[in-house]
Amino acid sequence: MTAVASFDVERIRADFPILHTMARGHPLVYLDSAATSQKPQVVIDALVDYYTTSNANVHRSVHYLAERATTAYEEARARVGRFVNAPSPESVVWVRGTTEAINLIATSWGRRNLSEGDTVLLTEMEHHSNLVPWQMLAKPRDHGGIGIRLDFVPVTEDGQLDMDAAREKLATGPRLFGFMAKSNVLGTENPVAELCALARANGVVTLVDGAQSVPHGTVDFQALGCDFLAFSAHKALGPMGIGALIVNPCRYPEMSPYQGGGEMIMRVKLATSTYKAPPICFEAGTPSAGDAIAFHTALDYLENLDLSAVHAHETRLTRLALDLLAEKGIKTFGPDDAALRAGIVSFDVPGVHPHDVSTLLDGRGIAVRAGHHCCQPLMRKLGVVATSRASFYLYNTEDEVRQFADGLDHVREYFKR
Ligand code: ALA
Repeated sequence: MTAVASFDVERIRADFPILHTMARGHPLVYLDSAATSQKPQVVIDALVDYYTTSNANVHRSVHYLAERATTAYEEARARVGRFVNAPSPESVVWVRGTTEAINLIATSWGRRNLSEGDTVLLTEMEHHSNLVPWQMLAKPRDHGGIGIRLDFVPVTEDGQLDMDAAREKLATGPRLFGFMAKSNVLGTENPVAELCALARANGVVTLVDGAQSVPHGTVDFQALGCDFLAFSAHKALGPMGIGALIVNPCRYPEMSPYQGGGEMIMRVKLATSTYKAPPICFEAGTPSAGDAIAFHTALDYLENLDLSAVHAHETRLTRLALDLLAEKGIKTFGPDDAALRAGIVSFDVPGVHPHDVSTLLDGRGIAVRAGHHCCQPLMRKLGVVATSRASFYLYNTEDEVRQFADGLDHVREYFKR
């Protein structure tokens, strides 16, 4: 692996082959890392190496390859645990990604611990993945739900969580509080430790959606004191199709497996079964072992950099983008104070649909996302149907941010004609 002693963006870029390709005849400017990150060569190599030298089903056979794959797979679990300071490797449940992690909690913990009329508290900024699984539980029993109530912490005018409302609502006795650590639309970094402490003081179970936070800085599960933390590998330089749910072990006795099948069992009779201990009882079927192992490599790569320097770099790029867009009179969403946000700038070019903005930028090789970003309720709150969004990661440069801002001049010129 390339060792990167200090934060040097050009040196980092050299590790990402895709950043040296062309898009529509221009050098690629990739500003869509909130949707998925690009992968360094070492992660691509780790995937190839797994299938070249180690491919076998894990936890099943005792032959050489199976042992090799199983050892690497379990080392990857321990690596993920260390990355977020989980209490132990057994606190790490492999999932396909953040969405599956939240569905697992809603089903394994929610269906067992919630009753009709119980409240689950969420926020107005949540991604659909932390709304829809709970909406399913809010349906009446004859529609597959259990009739829970949903409540929401509002988002303030400047794109932060309303902390007074959070305090009040947490005191009314919701059973679980689920919230994103960082908004994928606004870039707002929520005060996770403070929210978890408030929830704990009120006896409320906490679920933190770390999809946008874990890849971009230091997240310490034990210091946060949350019950569940969910995140995906693909936003953290790793492969798609693998992610982790970190579980506070005190919650395991309250959870039941939500998928049955191979490997999660101890003993199976025709009509009954007993299950293995967590986390394996939550991992029915053949897992994405190669992806888990390549995720290990991605986390090694990330940790080889200074994560606080990565965060500071993204904050600098965000500040630059906010300043350049403000100079151009382009409306941005989320906190003005760059200290409250990082890495994500959603914006609106007056009179131009976000899809047209994205298409015109794409014509210059600049990739941004346009749409509702899986946050339709937040779009309604912001009074728009969609936004354009630029998102930055450790491999983006100030020059790319300037090219993006210049591209917006071109968008406006085009629509003036
Ligand atoms: N949740 C991802 C995004 O915000 C897909 O783009």
